[in-house]
Amino acid sequence: MPKLTAFDIQKMKKTGKKITMLTAYDFSFATIFDEAKIDILLVGDTMGQTVYGAETTLEVTLDMSIRHCQAVTRGAKNYSLVIGDMPFLSYGLTIDETVANAGKLIKQGHAEAVKLEGASETRIKEIKAMVDIGIPVQGHIGLIPQSAYKLGGYKVQGKPESFFTEEELIQSAKQLEEAGCFSIILEAIPYEVSKKITEAIKIPTIGIGAGPHCDGQVLVCYDMLGCTIGRKPKFVKTYANLREEIIKATKKYAEEVEDGTYPSLEYSYEG
Ligand code: KIV
Repeated sequence: MPKLTAFDIQKMKKTGKKITMLTAYDFSFATIFDEAKIDILLVGDTMGQTVYGAETTLEVTLDMSIRHCQAVTRGAKNYSLVIGDMPFLSYGLTIDETVANAGKLIKQGHAEAVKLEGASETRIKEIKAMVDIGIPVQGHIGLIPQSAYKLGGYKVQGKPESFFTEEELIQSAKQLEEAGCFSIILEAIPYEVSKKITEAIKIPTIGIGAGPHCDGQVLVCYDMLGCTIGRKPKFVKTYANLREEIIKATKKYAEEVEDGTYPSLEYSYEG
């Protein structure tokens, strides 16, 4: 089976096959997710928190994103589409800069598509320019973390009291589709609203905390694998308890080094 393209993903809505997506930040995990046939790997700006231990995604730079895209694309050689996330302020200044920065994720990072947040008038113009030059673009609406200060925090969107109303989110999705996006991330949106958005557009929606009616689902890989410490959002299901497994293995290793069990001669060179 050849590597998936953005166009393949766009067509999946028609076939009804649910789209699988995870974040990935390095070569080794990319080889694993590629082998597990995850449809999309997002080199997300959540690397700010998961890899670099920052409080938010805001300090991630384009250079960081490029470096991690290089690592992930080296690992995802056989199946998964790799999307490079556009960090805060790598877009939103001038359209030329946005297109040039998206181009760097493709040319230098070897990403096969880019993602950026929001659906303002400026954003729509930027997306049109990127699509026009041949760059596949994934949109992202709802809780857009790069705008968390503006939204009043990391809050569910599309509720009567939210920054973005249900109507605004449906309108945004239609505008992103019209601008040429091949899919849209819906983040932290009530499932009834995500259902309406998903039914209102022909391109796939991929949800994170947006309920079961989306055309696909995405999770931060470390959340899904049970590596994350601290508060776990309601929508996160952990499919493994890697943190505990790794701590157990690490303690065993330390124990064996300390008591001299490791390395035995079996693990030593002769002669
Ligand atoms: O950066 C990221 O990891 C994301 C996903 C959570 C969708 O945007």
